[in-house]
Amino acid sequence: MRGILVTLSVLFAVYTVLVYGVGDRLDTDRANSGIRSGMRVWQERNCQSCHQLYGLGGYMGPDLTNVASLREEPRIRTFIRYGTGRMPALAVSDVEMDHLIAFLKWVDRSGTSKVPPETVHWTGTYLINEH
Ligand code: HEC
Repeated sequence: MRGILVTLSVLFAVYTVLVYGVGDRLDTDRANSGIRSGMRVWQERNCQSCHQLYGLGGYMGPDLTNVASLREEPRIRTFIRYGTGRMPALAVSDVEMDHLIAFLKWVDRSGTSKVPPETVHWTGTYLINEH
């Protein structure tokens, strides 16, 4: 009986250190102030009304979760600055544009919005580095 209690206590301590110690340190990609400003521009200009992040948002334009790795940066800047026939030109300042780009890159690093079915493991997990 005592052995079980001691074992459980030790496991609890190890688990706690792993979850709150190591786990916390792995999460190093916190949003700096530029990225947070970019998110504010994203919200103020209502990009979400036409675009999705992780599939959530309007459906007039494409999902932009991974646009930073799918498209060249100059193309992204040109779309935002000049618009197209279907997307309006959004008068963002140069600084706001830099912050928006930083925000889109940060979102891109956070994961993949469209998971190709062949990369899903039978356990239901998906490893980004596997492809
Ligand atoms: C009124 C709807 C609308 C709003 C608001 C809007 N967009 Fe778009 N956006 C579009 C459409 C539609 C397209 C596709 C245009 C095309 O292919 O001609 C697009 C395309 C883009 C692209 C290029 C995507 C690609 O795969 O090449 C980027 C980047 C982009 N938008 C960023 C933004 C950002 C950032 C904002 C907010 C500052 C924004 N958009 C606001 C409708 C919108």
